[in-house]
Amino acid sequence: MIHAILFGPQASGKGTQSKLLAEALGIPAISTGEMFREQIKRGTGLGKEAEAYMNRGELVPDELTNAIVRDRLSRDDVKKGYVFDGFPRNAVQADALDSLSTINLTLVLTLSDNEIVRRLSGRRVCPNDHIYHTEYKPPRQAGVCDIDGLPLSQRDDETPEAIRVRLRIYRERTTPLIDRYRKQGIPILEIDGSPSIEDVHASVMKAVEAYR
Ligand code: AP5
Repeated sequence: MIHAILFGPQASGKGTQSKLLAEALGIPAISTGEMFREQIKRGTGLGKEAEAYMNRGELVPDELTNAIVRDRLSRDDVKKGYVFDGFPRNAVQADALDSLSTINLTLVLTLSDNEIVRRLSGRRVCPNDHIYHTEYKPPRQAGVCDIDGLPLSQRDDETPEAIRVRLRIYRERTTPLIDRYRKQGIPILEIDGSPSIEDVHASVMKAVEAYR
């Protein structure tokens, strides 16, 4: 059973690849960013609290994040396995995850800063977080989601300052977790995130099959 974490800087393709991997394995992809955006859309108290942090590119406080993950891991569908996208992002969250479940695989997507900027400038999402790119993954009809027909837009947290903050937090607080899992003897599969979506997916599948 796969209990995986997908690491990678902003726009490296975590959302895109975790969905493809989860679909291929028949397990859920769990994105904390997506769960927070869903709360914002529904106008909940949690969404209102998370939104301010997200728009600044900062981490949502650990107690809120760990609580939403604890709740998600209590659902039945994770009994078949899961892949995390965007969690854990710091040591406190990794400690919380250790107390909830046992990770057996980590995947790390790598991408240069130049390509990160290119990916972000073309990213478009629908209100249900289906992800497109104007050049690399265009929808069939410009500005409209292929899956639910809803309008596509840029995310609210894609200001230059928020992007800088997110990349700094990834380097300073999230990348040390990769070493932490390595020291625990958990396989770390590093994957070049720069080829096409299909080629990166093929590399992810090859790495996961080799692990299995
Ligand atoms: P989150 O939504 O997780 O954002 P992120 O980690 O910054 O990552 P992104 O979603 O921006 O990028 P991605 O790697 O998923 O790339 P994507 O597949 O979209 O988090 C947002 C915020 O929520 C955080 O800043 C924080 O405030 C909060 N949050 C979330 N988790 C938290 C936690 N654990 N603790 C505290 N706070 C938390 O791809 C990018 C673009 O590139 C798309 O347009 C896509 O179509 C395109 N693309 C993808 N792959 C390729 C490819 N191979 N070739 C060409 N184009 C590609």
